[in-house]
Amino acid sequence: MAKRDFLTVTDFSSQEIQDSLLLAQDLKAEHKNGALRQVLKGKVLALIFHKPSLRTRVSFESGMYRLGGSVLYMTDKEIGMGSREAISDVGNVISRYVDGVMIRTFAHKWVEDLAANSQIPIINGLTDDYHPCQIMADLLTVQENFNTVENKHVVFIGDGNNVAKSWMNAARRLPFQLTLTCPEGYEPDAGFMAEVKRDAGDRVRIVNDPMEAAKGADVLYTDVWASMGQESETAARKKIFQPYQLNSTLLGQANKDCLVLHCLPAHRGEEITDDVIDGPNSRVFDQAENRMHAQNALLVSLMGSGS
Ligand code: CP
Ligand code: NVA
Repeated sequence: MAKRDFLTVTDFSSQEIQDSLLLAQDLKAEHKNGALRQVLKGKVLALIFHKPSLRTRVSFESGMYRLGGSVLYMTDKEIGMGSREAISDVGNVISRYVDGVMIRTFAHKWVEDLAANSQIPIINGLTDDYHPCQIMADLLTVQENFNTVENKHVVFIGDGNNVAKSWMNAARRLPFQLTLTCPEGYEPDAGFMAEVKRDAGDRVRIVNDPMEAAKGADVLYTDVWASMGQESETAARKKIFQPYQLNSTLLGQANKDCLVLHCLPAHRGEEITDDVIDGPNSRVFDQAENRMHAQNALLVSLMGSGS
């Protein structure tokens, strides 16, 4: 069977996303009962990081160990992708040693090039453009709380960044409402938005007024205002994004049982206030925990014996 990659949420069909979430729920239950299946025994996953991480690294490492496999952690210091060695050569070589690669890097094109030149599954652990593993964990969290994501209204407040775009990709595959509220000029690019509109139509909208956007939300989601690689814009963005802070006033616009989500790391007091991230609506730590279970499902389907 041809190898499969997971570079964006849209690499999976609607059915595959739903199946993956069900598998994640089963694996999570087994993990809680201490009976996780060791279906990746003997398999090795390489983890390549060009940006820092807590959740992605630890959840992939511990997930692989719990499934019976092992990992190899590398940074670009060792590999020199595209500088010490062509990305295509890296892909062809690493495919001879390991059974899969998770990569976190800057340009999405690098991940696409690596995938095109590898004979093993490549998993995107975050690029400047997308963070699909995060969204699988987020969908799992929504599903756990509401039993379904169908017809829910998810409101993403802040930058039209890699996480926001991955939520849009999810809305291209699953029938929920998605509102992005961001300052003018911080929306995803027009080419991407045209693709989203083509697949999701009116279910996805961009609203510049955050108070308007948050009305009737089932999920209020935010992320840092300056992503990794945008550190030089931090001060300017702090001013521009101030009206987009997820605080109790904004939460007051949402439904009573609204979930507050944040992919973390959070800059407390900036994009989200302490009372909201630590408040009764917040599920951010369940969400972080779900990274491992959602990714274990991906690893089993991409690297397991049936794949
Ligand atoms: N949410 C997330 O990807 O966290 P890390 O950057 O710590 O991996
Ligand atoms: N948008 C953030 C997500 C971090 C998990 C970043 O890219 O830095």
